[in-house]
Amino acid sequence: MRAEMARPHTPGGDPDAQRRLCAGMASTGVRHPGIAGRTRFFDEQVLAALRDGIGQIVVCGAGYDDRALRFRSPGVRYFELDHPLTQADKAAKLRAMSADTSDLVMAPADFGDRDVADVLDRCGHDASRPTLFLCEGLLVYLDRATGEDLLSGLRQRGASGSRLVASLAAHPPGIDSARAVEVANARRRDASREPWRTILPAGTYVNAIAATGWRVAQFVDASEWEPDAPPGRTLLVVGS
Ligand SMILES: C[S@@+](CC[C@H](N)C(=O)[O-])C[C@H]1O[C@@H](n2cnc3c(N)ncnc32)[C@H](O)[C@@H]1O
Repeated sequence: MRAEMARPHTPGGDPDAQRRLCAGMASTGVRHPGIAGRTRFFDEQVLAALRDGIGQIVVCGAGYDDRALRFRSPGVRYFELDHPLTQADKAAKLRAMSADTSDLVMAPADFGDRDVADVLDRCGHDASRPTLFLCEGLLVYLDRATGEDLLSGLRQRGASGSRLVASLAAHPPGIDSARAVEVANARRRDASREPWRTILPAGTYVNAIAATGWRVAQFVDASEWEPDAPPGRTLLVVGS
């Protein structure tokens, strides 16, 4: 989906990066409402961070995110964290497309059993300089405790001026969250391989994020960025 979207890029960035990264991948043919809005929002947040001089961008659960190439900028380092197998596959694709990855560090990590602060410390991230941390399409795959540990770990590495941008899967208040997860997974084709684990009401997220040490600076619905997206399902949060 993202490879087909018109998206911005930096002067030194590769506008064709997503298409090249996804070349040869089978399309699911399924349109996922919310992803276009979420992509636009995250792209804008990356561009804003670059304008504001933030020199480190950590992409948690990066998958096939192309922003390290699309938004390449002099002096800016990208760090991508994901499962070892996903990373190995992406690294092979980056090599095959002869991508310039000189300002990209790829650090394998399973957030379920690795302390993200330790992973970042070992891979060259500088905790004394501001960082933009991205968690796009990730937290729904982690159980609530793992997601909260992840955000706390990022907070530990976030010097003053750092930002967190995350997408969250939400359900209306008054519904049992475990039941919401069950119903959502029942509608998904790959739920048995990669189940969703955390869907919460907006208010619960605000309190949970604040408890990890981030100040919630912005909280919007993806439908504000994509008119076709159903309201109340995908929330976008910026923490400072
Ligand atoms: C839906 S994809 C989103 C990828 C990318 N952020 C994007 O928006 O295009 C979810 C990503 O989270 C990663 N992920 C899920 N659980 C993880 C875990 N426990 N540890 C590390 N990565 C995980 C997956 O490997 C996958 O790349």
